[in-house]
Amino acid sequence: MSQSTENNGLTDFPRVGIVVGNPKPGSRTFQAAHHLAEQLAGRAPDPAVDLASFGSGLLDWSDAEVDAAVQTVRGLDLVIFASPTFKASYTGLLKVFLDRFPSNALDGVVAVPLMLGAGPGHALAPEVFLRPVLAELGASIPAKALYLIDTDHDRPEAYEPWLAASRGRIAAALNARRAAAGAPDQANEVPA
Ligand SMILES: Cc1cc2nc3c(=O)[nH]c(=O)nc-3n(C[C@H](O)[C@H](O)[C@H](O)COP(=O)(O)O)c2cc1C
Repeated sequence: MSQSTENNGLTDFPRVGIVVGNPKPGSRTFQAAHHLAEQLAGRAPDPAVDLASFGSGLLDWSDAEVDAAVQTVRGLDLVIFASPTFKASYTGLLKVFLDRFPSNALDGVVAVPLMLGAGPGHALAPEVFLRPVLAELGASIPAKALYLIDTDHDRPEAYEPWLAASRGRIAAALNARRAAAGAPDQANEVPA
């Protein structure tokens, strides 16, 4: 069976969101995560969680708005967790948000670690630092983490090698999640 042309072969209508840990709202990192979600799902991510918007609420563990965001993210099928590279790693802002998630809170959620940096020196940072946190929370991370040079964030071709290598893996993980939930198997729609 041919793959869907509307969503690049991904399971029909996965709930796709982004979480962006940049103290600067509407950042290049946010735009990169948004673009990646659109490329994977064929439509804009919903929700698009820009952690900068929470301000000091992120440090208040009783903050209802942040708690609601945690619950919403837990209910998604595919989430891109994005951060700029700060001091060779992902930001403390993203960590503060992820610390709010209970153990295994992302059980079975398909996650993509994404980081932007000023140069190639820290290209392994999303794989070495961000992936383990998402794995600790139980997420399924079927593709390599993506690292982009910040000046490439608005060049669609910069995403293409990663997309070509990762679409099938992500589609298969989403289909496995769907099957585990008891929905009809759509394995034949996963691209080779
Ligand atoms: C505090 C700070 C620390 C940074 N540390 C690094 C770093 O260690 N490695 C790197 O490649 N870029 C580093 N950068 C550059 C940013 O990762 C890069 O410009 C990124 O694209 C910023 O994301 P934004 O454009 O979405 O704000 C740093 C920037 C700041 C502000």
